[in-house]
Amino acid sequence: MTDALWFFGRGSGVVTLVLISIVVALGVGARSGRPAFGLPRFAVSLLHRNAALLAMVLLAGHVLGLYFDPYAQLRLVDLVLPFAGRYRPIWLGLGTLAIDLIVAIVVTSLLRKRIGARVWRIVHRLAYLCWPLAVLHGVQTGTDGRTWWMWTVVAACVGMVLAAVAWRLSPGFARFPQRVERRVSASAAERSASALEGAPR
Ligand code: HEM
Repeated sequence: MTDALWFFGRGSGVVTLVLISIVVALGVGARSGRPAFGLPRFAVSLLHRNAALLAMVLLAGHVLGLYFDPYAQLRLVDLVLPFAGRYRPIWLGLGTLAIDLIVAIVVTSLLRKRIGARVWRIVHRLAYLCWPLAVLHGVQTGTDGRTWWMWTVVAACVGMVLAAVAWRLSPGFARFPQRVERRVSASAAERSASALEGAPR
């Protein structure tokens, strides 16, 4: 049973890392407001949300598996308070910090309508910080961090996210016709609203 928890805890950690990387890349695609990765726009958003949900389930499995496994001797406090652990404290702490950020991102996404798009977007951008924390945690805390296959997985994740971020920062990202159209129609709406305000009743 202990071996099963140990392997499950580690395996689910690796899958979570892959999923989180996919979620970040899909998030960039969803933000672009256009078809991306060969998928229509709605499918990119849907996939982003569902991959995030799946990542949360696996992350819970990762943390609980390693919590109930005796090797790392995790305490409940280690799951929420970064850098308090006894097992590889710095690198474990980065994982805990990543989870804290993820909780903030998930909670604000659930409360999006109440808190407004601006606050939601600011908190959602924490995903860009959360992801490298998760990568460093995975490589440095894990028993498999030095294996060739783990390096291959991490290289693929890093390549995918860096490519998405490079696209996000490129000038072409904002120049998609629909985004321009949306901006044009928004400013047209603003103009007609202010014209109406100035019109005699
Ligand atoms: C976004 C959050 C997290 C991700 C993506 C993640 C991912 C990973 C990965 C990929 C590994 C390496 C597994 C291996 O070497 O086979 C790992 C190891 C580990 N993680 Fe996490 N983790 C996260 C958060 C946490 C948290 C919050 C804790 C507990 C406080 C935790 C506890 C551990 C422990 C104890 C190990 C070492 C297992 C070993 O020695 O092999 N992780 N994690």
